[in-house]
Amino acid sequence: MRASKPSLNLRAFALSTASAGALALLALLVPGCGHDGRFDETLTQSPALALGGTENPVVAPAANPSTDAKVALGRDLFWDPILSGNRDVACASCHHPALGYADGRRTSIGTGGTGLGAQRTIAPGAPTPNRNAMTILDAAFNGLTLDGPSTALGAPMFWDNRARSLEQQALGPIAAESEMRGSAYDAEHILPEVVARLSAVPAYVARFERAFGAGPVTADGVASAIASFERSIVATDASFDRYMRGDATALTAQQLRGMAVFERSGCGGCHAGPMFSDFELHALGVPDLPGAAHDAGDGRNRFRTASLRFVTRTGPYMHNGVFNTLDDVYRFYLRADDRAADPQLRGVRAPRGDDAADVSAFLAALSDGTVDTTVPASVPSGLPVGGAIR
Ligand code: HEC
Ligand code: HEC
Repeated sequence: MRASKPSLNLRAFALSTASAGALALLALLVPGCGHDGRFDETLTQSPALALGGTENPVVAPAANPSTDAKVALGRDLFWDPILSGNRDVACASCHHPALGYADGRRTSIGTGGTGLGAQRTIAPGAPTPNRNAMTILDAAFNGLTLDGPSTALGAPMFWDNRARSLEQQALGPIAAESEMRGSAYDAEHILPEVVARLSAVPAYVARFERAFGAGPVTADGVASAIASFERSIVATDASFDRYMRGDATALTAQQLRGMAVFERSGCGGCHAGPMFSDFELHALGVPDLPGAAHDAGDGRNRFRTASLRFVTRTGPYMHNGVFNTLDDVYRFYLRADDRAADPQLRGVRAPRGDDAADVSAFLAALSDGTVDTTVPASVPSGLPVGGAIR
C-alpha cells in the first residue's frame, strides 16, 4: 500500500481571460493514483469557475489603478538607467524581454557590469547580487492561489517573500548597492537624487503629469508607474491556458502525458494553482553555488515555491541559479526527500527518462504565452536604453 494520501486530484487552474478579461478559472481534475497504484489518465474538465467575479484578472491597489499613461511612463522608467546611481543599469538590464524578462544568468550582475545575459561581465571582486533574477512576467499574479488572488498590496515578492506588492518592490533595486545604487550615493540619498534627476528632464515632468496630474515628481510616482507597467506584462494565452479554455488540441499528447506525470509525481503539492506556486516558503535543501556563501532565505533556509509559468524561458533555476537545466532540477528532486526538512517533499517522485522529457514538454506549455516585448527606441533621459547592455 502506498503511504501517501489517496486520490489527490490535480487542481491546476489556468489563468484565463475567457471573456473580456473576466477571471474565469477552469478546474482540471485528473483522477490521481487509485489504491491499487494504477494511474487513470482520463481528463475531466469542470465548468468554468468565476473567481470572485473579478472583472480584471490583474489586481491593482485602489490607490494605484492602472492607466495607459502610467504604463507608458513605467516602461520608460523600467528601461532608463537614470534610476541607477552610476546611470549604467536599468531594471531591464536584469529583466530583459529577450531573456524571458529575467537575465539568463545564475546570479545577476548590477551596476559596473556591461553586456547582457550570459555575456554580462564585471570587474573581479565587484559586489554582485547573490540571487538569480526572477522574471517579472506574470509577477502581477503573485499570490494568486487556489484560494483566489491575493490583494495587490499583499502580493508576495522575492525568493523569500520579504516584500509585498509591486509598488513596494520597485524601489528596492534602486536602493540596493549591488543592483542599481552603486557606491556614489548612500541608501538614504539615492531616491531624492533620482527624483531630482527626473525633475530636470522636461519629458519626464510631462509624463508624470500625464500619469498623476499636476505636481512634483515623487518616488511614490516612480514606484506606482513601474508597478503599473509590470501589471501589463502578463500572458494568459499559453497553450495550457488555451487547453483549459476548451481547445482540446492546444496540448500535444506528450504534454498531456507530462501533465499527468507532474501530478502523480507530487509536484502539484507545492506548484499548485494558476501560477503553479502556492507562494509559500519551503526548505528544500537546494545546494549552495560552489564558492558562494550560504543563503539562508527567510532565515530558516526557506524559499518561495517558484512559479512554473515561463519556466522553460527563465533558466538557470532555483534562488541561486545552481541548476542550469530542468533535468538538473528533476535530478535534485530524486534525492530531495532525504535531506530536506519540508514534510511536503515526502512522497515526491522525480521524473526520469521519458517521463522527464514529458514533464519538460508540459512545462513548455506554461511558457509560450505572448507578452509585450517592446524595447523602446529611446528613453527620455537620452541615456542608453536598458543601461550598459551592449
Ligand atoms: C542587478 C540585476 C537586477 C536589477 C537591475 C533589477 N532586478 Fe529585479 N530582481 C533581481 C533579482 C536577483 C531578484 C530576486 C532577488 C531576491 O529574491 O532577493 C529580482 C526580483 C524582482 C522582482 C520580484 C519578482 C517576484 O516574483 O517575486 C521584481 C518584481 C523585480 N525584480 C522588478 C525589478 C524592477 C522594477 C527593477 C528596477 C527598478 C529591477 N527589478 C531591477 C535582479 C535585478
Ligand atoms: C515541498 C514543495 C515543493 C514540491 C513538492 C516541489 N517543488 Fe519545485 N520548487 C519548490 C521551491 C520552494 C522551489 C524554489 C527553491 C529554491 O529556489 O531554493 C522550487 C523550484 C522548482 C523549479 C525551479 C524554478 C525556477 O524558476 O527556478 C522547478 C523547475 C521545479 N521546482 C519543479 C518541480 C517538480 C518537477 C516537482 C515534482 C517532481 C517539484 N518541483 C516539487 C517547492 C516544491
